Amino acid sequence: MARHLITSAIPYINGIKHLGNLVGSQLPADLFARYQRARGNEVLFLCATDEHGTPAELAAAKAGKPVAEYCAEMHAVQAEIARGFRLSFDHFGRSSSPQNHALTQHFAGRLAEAGLISEVSEKQVYSHADARFLPDRYIEGTCPNCGYDKARGDQCENCTKQLDPTDLIDARSAISGSTDLEVRETKHLYLRQSALKDELDTWIESKTDWPVLTTSIAKKWLHDGDGLRDRGITRDLDWGIPVRKGTEEWPGMEGKVFYVWFDAPIEYIACASEWAEAHGLEDADWHRWWRTDKGADDVRYTQFMGKDNVPFHTLSFPATLIGSGEPWKMVDHLKSFNYLNYDGGQFSTSQGRGIFMDQALDLLPADYWRWWLLSHAPESSDSEFTWENFQSSVNKDLADVLGNFISRITKFCRSKFGEAVPGGGAYGPAEDALIADLTTRVARYATLMDGMEVRKSAQELRAIWVCGNEYLQSVAPWTTFKTDPDAAAMQTRLGLNLAHLFAVLSAPFLPDASRKILESLNVGEAVWPKDQSEFLSQLSQGHAFEVPEVLFAKISEEECESWKTRFSGIRQA
Ligand code: 2FM
Ligand code: ZN
Repeated sequence: MARHLITSAIPYINGIKHLGNLVGSQLPADLFARYQRARGNEVLFLCATDEHGTPAELAAAKAGKPVAEYCAEMHAVQAEIARGFRLSFDHFGRSSSPQNHALTQHFAGRLAEAGLISEVSEKQVYSHADARFLPDRYIEGTCPNCGYDKARGDQCENCTKQLDPTDLIDARSAISGSTDLEVRETKHLYLRQSALKDELDTWIESKTDWPVLTTSIAKKWLHDGDGLRDRGITRDLDWGIPVRKGTEEWPGMEGKVFYVWFDAPIEYIACASEWAEAHGLEDADWHRWWRTDKGADDVRYTQFMGKDNVPFHTLSFPATLIGSGEPWKMVDHLKSFNYLNYDGGQFSTSQGRGIFMDQALDLLPADYWRWWLLSHAPESSDSEFTWENFQSSVNKDLADVLGNFISRITKFCRSKFGEAVPGGGAYGPAEDALIADLTTRVARYATLMDGMEVRKSAQELRAIWVCGNEYLQSVAPWTTFKTDPDAAAMQTRLGLNLAHLFAVLSAPFLPDASRKILESLNVGEAVWPKDQSEFLSQLSQGHAFEVPEVLFAKISEEECESWKTRFSGIRQA
């Protein structure tokens, strides 16, 4: 039994995520976790909310709530929506957890001992009106690169250039709007990632099986000079993990916290500790996933994320782990995604553009969205959501192919043989050919799923459903029945077994539909098929079943049009 540690990039706490966020990390990670569990492997699948930094503070201020209270509430909201999408996290943690505080401070202490942290006196913008420094998003102004007048202190949303607050022209406070600002000296900690360049280089070069998207971004940042620049890992903020050297005070750093991108990936580790605590387990139980000296040497660790997160996961976080000098498990495979666009433009949280996770679930059950999103995952390039495409996928793939097959075979059996699998008849050339074809296809599907080829896996799965439909269509038990009821019984029996096969294979993509099919077929436990011929003879004469309710309703023209109109504007709060 293989052991898979799987993490999804942890979503920011500031609001409900859109479908573009979902398909770029949490959903494909869930697909992989469900698949690996279905193959009988041991899986620890972790995700959390990313709760620190200026986005959290600003969102809490906007909501008029203390930031800790805001984060606790939004964590519960995001957890509920994740359940709605059937994201099967073993634990959905919080980067503000005591575990993450302790681990983040521990890493900072180790890095300092290794000489990998420097204390730098730097210039920061101080606001007299707000009586505080204005890091990152607390400051707005005109972008020196493109002239956009609402650029933030960390990045211009218009031209994507990374900025420092002091770069902005006509800067103002994002809190009070005040322009009474002054540049003051303040001391911060920098992670000397450049000192680890050779080690990072060797490590990245050894990852020959990573997707091109991942390695191209990693190598660009590694070799461009700018990417491996030493990074400030502390901020002048109230909310966050207080700067400490392990458990000790850090002289000169009083009142400062770690930068959100320093503590967020450490939450992947802390989350395992939170998971252990939540299940009454020992430290050894999570160490065996994360410490190579304590059993994690045979773990395969896979991370899922959008392409904008790749530099932090291929450079900064590995620098933290390597720099600690401790035997932490490093990522084995890093699956990254391009962007999903929405109907001719970008999904945008700040502009409320697109479909948000809660809204999606108000319209249709999770499986519909899971199928469209995964079968259109932005792997080799950006992809685009359009309502027409969504309607066509749901109607053609889910309703006409999978749904129709299940309904047709169960209803036909009920009408001619009753609600139990019929006996009699023997396989002929059509059945042998089908089994041979399925043997090849199921093996290919497994290879694609192992390789996290999300779109291709969806295509292969659909092709497997199509095989079933074509078989039924060609042998036509409803016609055979008139002349050779035994042969019709055999064809129907095989059809019901195909329904079982489809349910098991589809479960990672469509967990609810799969469960409904298995329940209606009275199959207790889903077991991954090893040998197709054997698998397809499991439901034998007399095995009772029920016709399931309709699995997938088609999306009508009217619905499609009305949703398109409803989601054409910006989201109203
Ligand atoms: O881009 C984001 O949504 C970040 N919150 C991802 C953090 S992933 C990791 F580092 F924890
Ligand atoms: Zn700009």
